Amino acid sequence: MKAVAVLPGKANSAHLASLDKPDLKTVPNGRGVLVRVLRVGVDGTDKEINAAEYGAAPKGYDFLVTGHEGFGIVEKVGPNVTELKPGDYVVATVRRPGNSIYDLIGTNDMTTDDTYYERGINLLHGFLTEYYVDDAEYIVRVLGTLKNIGVLLEPFTVVQKGITQAYEAQRRLRVWRPRKAAVMGAGTIGLLAALSMKLRGMDVTVFARQPKPSIRSEMLAQIDVRYVSTLEMPLLEAGKQYGPFDLTFEATGASQVVFDAMQTVGKNGVLVLSSVTGGNKKVEIPADKINLDFVLGNKLMVGTVNANREYFESGVRDMALGQAMYPGWLEKFLTHPVEGLDNYQDAFTKLETAKEAIKVFYEVAAL
Ligand code: BGC
Ligand code: ZN
Repeated sequence: MKAVAVLPGKANSAHLASLDKPDLKTVPNGRGVLVRVLRVGVDGTDKEINAAEYGAAPKGYDFLVTGHEGFGIVEKVGPNVTELKPGDYVVATVRRPGNSIYDLIGTNDMTTDDTYYERGINLLHGFLTEYYVDDAEYIVRVLGTLKNIGVLLEPFTVVQKGITQAYEAQRRLRVWRPRKAAVMGAGTIGLLAALSMKLRGMDVTVFARQPKPSIRSEMLAQIDVRYVSTLEMPLLEAGKQYGPFDLTFEATGASQVVFDAMQTVGKNGVLVLSSVTGGNKKVEIPADKINLDFVLGNKLMVGTVNANREYFESGVRDMALGQAMYPGWLEKFLTHPVEGLDNYQDAFTKLETAKEAIKVFYEVAAL
């Protein structure tokens, strides 16, 4: 069967690889699930992997099958799988366990190991192929009514984890009722974070560079989220007007934004950082002021990456809630389909050039 792969360490090496159709028996204990891939989303991580800035091949291979935002349908299950059956729509989690105590308790997303295993990213093949097999432990069922937007689940879990982590950490306060929230960045993650905050009843402001009106500012207006272009009003000024913020989700991919965002955090507030910044940027910051305000305001900043099973499950529930509150809104993310695995060049071109693209995704097989 076909797969989209790269040669890690070699830039622009995307190509079609060929793999054997996987067998249920590769998973011990009769807990295997064979999934036929229907759709796979791509994002900045895939771009970085093809640029050889990120990613490693599995042991014994010189190539890595990419794709970590999968969506598929169960075709066969092993004898000890009771929670899934053929015909179920599913999404697989991305990270697989290592050895730290966090991995041992099923929170692979919190690993303290230096080496981590992520399907389609690091040391494990991904989902940009026709079929995959995995342990039922890592496969989450998606309601059939969500099948059109199921490919958004993996990015949504990154948001779910970040926000859940904020609530968990804020238990330090005994009482925490975030009212004013901010999102830095209006990419897929930023838009999904805004939705997630709306579902929790917050007043949300999204900050991004692009002037309005734009597809994004209009989409946000539809769910009653304020959009501020930082070209029109600088973040620090807008922060005074619409903040200070109880909860901020940073997802711009630009580390310098973090230090401005820190200056808009309210007393007892929390700033969640999710940008994976591989560069080497340096910035000058008002260090005394930022530090003083964090100390005197009991403020918190927390990093977050990846997501484990519980966030995939809560992601499915929140997607259903999102559909109920704002019917048709999540479908609007699916701006740039790519037809079939053969068209991987088209997928990269769309990722690089289509500025208005919210989600580029492969249609591997018909839904
Ligand atoms: C993926 C995460 C992953 C992270 C770091 C993101 O694009 O969505 O699942 O943990 O990259 O590799
Ligand atoms: Zn991703």
